[in-house]
Amino acid sequence: DASGALHAASQAQPNIALVKYWGKRDTALNLPVVGSISITLDSLWTRTDVRFVPGQKHDVVSLNGRSDEAEAKRVTACMDLLRQRAGVDYGAEVASQNNFPTAAGLASSASGFAALVHAGARALGLELSLAEQSVLARRCSGSAARSIFGGYVEWAHGQLADGTDSVARPLLDADAWPLRVAVAITSRAAKQIGSTEGMCRTAQTSPYQSAWIDTQEADLDVARNAILARDFDALAAISEYSCLKMHALAMASQPGLLYWNGTTVECMHRVRALRQQGVPVFFTVDAGPQLKAVCAPSAIEQVKAALADVPGVLDVLDTGLGAGARAIPASE
Ligand code: PMV
Repeated sequence: DASGALHAASQAQPNIALVKYWGKRDTALNLPVVGSISITLDSLWTRTDVRFVPGQKHDVVSLNGRSDEAEAKRVTACMDLLRQRAGVDYGAEVASQNNFPTAAGLASSASGFAALVHAGARALGLELSLAEQSVLARRCSGSAARSIFGGYVEWAHGQLADGTDSVARPLLDADAWPLRVAVAITSRAAKQIGSTEGMCRTAQTSPYQSAWIDTQEADLDVARNAILARDFDALAAISEYSCLKMHALAMASQPGLLYWNGTTVECMHRVRALRQQGVPVFFTVDAGPQLKAVCAPSAIEQVKAALADVPGVLDVLDTGLGAGARAIPASE
């Protein structure tokens, strides 16, 4: 409304981890077994409008104009956290739009829950710091903790049992080192095994789980230093290492988790061939078949063309690095 009461809208963008999060030490609170470092993207976004309606019993949720029961449950769980804080019990109307494919390894849950917490908190008049919003977003979807912030972001493992210190913080602004990202879309199918189920299977069956945990702190130190020094080669090496290590860990589960298709692997080879020719580019892949190539701004056109040329690549998206969750005008 004109007064802003009970109604607000926010935008947040997906993030891509360079040092990966994989594994939960507490599934109820979404506490990770490792810290992680990511970049927040710019041109892919989620825009979410939240209106609380006193007297309304349930939440009414629409995603890209459609209702989706599984997602609506997660939205209600997230709104419950905010309702508890505000001491209210009425439902909300939530309308969310993504300008990119959902649930295909493009971190729609990260941007989605960051935007939802940001808008929902303001709609209820809760004055939460960004760190508090990051903690709440984490409880809804782990990596959403990082999309509250822009640029280069680190999400801490934390020490406390209640998870209040497992929070993201910004390391460096997007403008301070404006790398670009080309996303090779190799499949439009929704993913088969979600990250929560995959992480659980890995923790229960992969013999590499302890090695993964034991080596993460060193990887975080290397990546953090590379970012602060804007050392592209060092960031490239640690990022590909962390990506391949996460996938090796998951592949060694029983039954093995194989998130790549053949085109994903061809894209990895193409990126490495470019780098060998002196092009500043590296790859990373999450719990799905899309390949993300991170590069210097001067290399983006060459990287996009090289990926578009790989047989099986359906499309190549292109984005810079962007800001964290923020307010946008609410609908009428
Ligand atoms: O936040 P979730 O549950 O969607 O898990 C994200 C897992 C990875 O994308 C594979 C890694 C990461 O750090 O984002």
